[in-house]
Amino acid sequence: MLLPSHALLSLLLPLLATAHSSPETAEEREVQRALQQAAYHCAPAVAEFTAYRKRAWAQKVLTGNPSLPAYQELFADGTYDAEPGQELMSCTPVTEEVKMENNTCVLTPTVTEGPYYHKVGHPIRQNIAEYQIGVPLLLDIGVIDVETCKPLPNVLVDIWHANATGHYAGHPEPTFELRDEKPQVGGKRNGLLSAFPRTKPAETFLRGAWPTNENGVAQFSTIFPGYYTGRATHIHTKVFPSWTPLPNGTFEAGKLVHVGQFFFDDEINVQVDKMHPYTTNPIKDTVGRTRNWRDSLNIFEDSQGPEGKYNPVFRLEMLGGVVNQGFAGFITMGVNTSVEVDNWWKG
Ligand SMILES: *[C@@H]1O[C@H](CO)[C@@H](O)[C@H](O)[C@H]1NC(C)=O
Ligand SMILES: *[C@@H]1O[C@H](CO)[C@@H](O)[C@H](O)[C@H]1NC(C)=O
Ligand SMILES: *[C@@H]1O[C@H](CO)[C@@H](O)[C@H](O)[C@H]1NC(C)=O
Ligand SMILES: *[C@@H]1O[C@H](CO)[C@@H](O)[C@H](O)[C@H]1NC(C)=O
Repeated sequence: MLLPSHALLSLLLPLLATAHSSPETAEEREVQRALQQAAYHCAPAVAEFTAYRKRAWAQKVLTGNPSLPAYQELFADGTYDAEPGQELMSCTPVTEEVKMENNTCVLTPTVTEGPYYHKVGHPIRQNIAEYQIGVPLLLDIGVIDVETCKPLPNVLVDIWHANATGHYAGHPEPTFELRDEKPQVGGKRNGLLSAFPRTKPAETFLRGAWPTNENGVAQFSTIFPGYYTGRATHIHTKVFPSWTPLPNGTFEAGKLVHVGQFFFDDEINVQVDKMHPYTTNPIKDTVGRTRNWRDSLNIFEDSQGPEGKYNPVFRLEMLGGVVNQGFAGFITMGVNTSVEVDNWWKG
């Protein structure tokens, strides 16, 4: 397999005001504003960052295949050093001309973490799949500091998502009285069901956290998520610049600087829907998968930004010749390590 050498550029968006996450205080509004601005001034740096990562990835793929021309010139896994006298990445002054392009991405705080986060118990690990079956998915998640536009090493990226049939670890079923609940019609929670309670506290599948490496990248292996009522297919994330590993393999988090959600192109979702075990999703023939543009709480739509220029969608590369061999997904988050984000989930 040879990866195309162009445009593997992640897109990521400011996930702006939603019903649950609208900044309420003047301070929160200022954080949003500053991060939105940062999305513009970091855009060229993010494009460069992703290009480096893509070359590092290609290097890995091509190692052991020296008959391919020019493979020696690609980047190895080391730190991405700048040429002497040059800055590897730097911020661009914000002017009218600096426009956020569709091949760059910076994520701003914040969308809801939703009801399925576990404050305690996410394991520190890169392979989060456990025994869950589904289409293989490797994630390459970059984190940059929006104040310097430089990659942020050693920050903990915490992710969690639903399994192929739309369930989160620990939350297998609705409460008994809500077994026949229908999605809400109208109102803020239009299209959603009540959250499934956590009745299996020990389950951890499809949850895990890993620190970014010296290049500001955290990689995970997992399966492509499935869908559940009212929500577009997504992966949740939180970013912690400081944390303490615990003896049982979990961690105690320090301050939170980012809460966000990542998505997939609907065309890819359509292809995944057709594969086993995604075909056994219990809502497949009733409400079905929610398309990105219909996402409840407007989470996906709001993430396009006021001018529709942002895109919090993984750039996917196929791992093999066919879709069921899986994907590698690239995305970049910009975070401001000076801020402290609240958990804005209000139930
Ligand atoms: C980062 O956060 C600090 C503290 O809220 C703020 O003063 C600064 O403008 C922010 N920087 C960016 C680029 O958003
Ligand atoms: C990005 O934008 C350019 C120019 O506006 C367009 O030609 C290109 O198709 C876009 N690419 C994607 C992936 O949307
Ligand atoms: C790990 O240890 C912490 C701190 O003692 C505890 O709160 C947590 O429940 C433990 N988690 C698991 C999964 O054992
Ligand atoms: C997803 O998780 C639910 C709840 O634990 C389980 O019943 C279901 O079998 C899982 N789906 C797959 C495809 O394993």
